[in-house]
Amino acid sequence: MPLQEILDVVAQDSEEPALVRSIDWTRLPRHVAIIMDGNGRWAKQRHKRRVEGHRAGIHAVRDVVEASARLGLEVLTLYAFSVENWKRPKTEVSTLMALLKRYLRLELNTLLKNNIRFQVIGRTEELSPDIRSELQRGMERTASCTGLLFNIALNYGGRAEITDAVRRLVADAQRNGRQPAEIGEETIASYLYTAGQPDPDLLIRTSGELRISNFLLWQIAYSEIWVTEVLWPDFRRRHLLQAIADYQKRER
Ligand code: IPE
Ligand code: IPE
Ligand code: MG
Repeated sequence: MPLQEILDVVAQDSEEPALVRSIDWTRLPRHVAIIMDGNGRWAKQRHKRRVEGHRAGIHAVRDVVEASARLGLEVLTLYAFSVENWKRPKTEVSTLMALLKRYLRLELNTLLKNNIRFQVIGRTEELSPDIRSELQRGMERTASCTGLLFNIALNYGGRAEITDAVRRLVADAQRNGRQPAEIGEETIASYLYTAGQPDPDLLIRTSGELRISNFLLWQIAYSEIWVTEVLWPDFRRRHLLQAIADYQKRER
């Protein structure tokens, strides 16, 4: 991507040119994964209901997805709903699902315009039929896009993912006679939702929590971790650039 275009990307946000200059565009991370956290705290600070924080979080999603595509990242994975999140109040869960559906419906054209391929990772079979059909539509319509791969982790758990992988692996081995010694790390990786994708180089978590919360347990074995106090609804492309700049400093 020409530098001018990248400068335009960041200029859409109040930008520090020094930050832009500090990034080495030839060594971008291939895969960035983000634990989007802090929507509830954002709302609380404003004396609003938690769901208002989730609503505001959509703006951050839009900005980060578009910036990732324009920067030329290969994969962006956003953790949107964990297998543990069902324990939240019913109304919060249903609002989150409704927001997700709306996001997909409204954003589909933008995804297509930006050549973004959309994919869901997680136990989608446990989601309601209307959400599943919306997700299916998003995946089908963007299937031939060749730019950014945008994974959304929904009803996702790292242990659940590994469990599902092992179940399928064992079932296949029983059928095709594959021996235990023939199973390597690559075999296991090929049964994960992220089969064929590079592992995250950079894992970002917003709102200061120093936890993995069951996210991509297998895939983050060597990821650099970057935590910011910024709450997810306030997160914008300049924070993504900060994370990338810091990641490059550590790599050197
Ligand atoms: C992250 O924000 C959004 C989801 C988990 C869906 P939270 O809702 O966890 O916000 P906090 O952690 O309570 O501030
Ligand atoms: C992590 O946030 C899950 C998602 C971002 C979807 P949570 O707020 O649910 O995680 P904990 O409770 O802090 O571990
Ligand atoms: Mg949280």
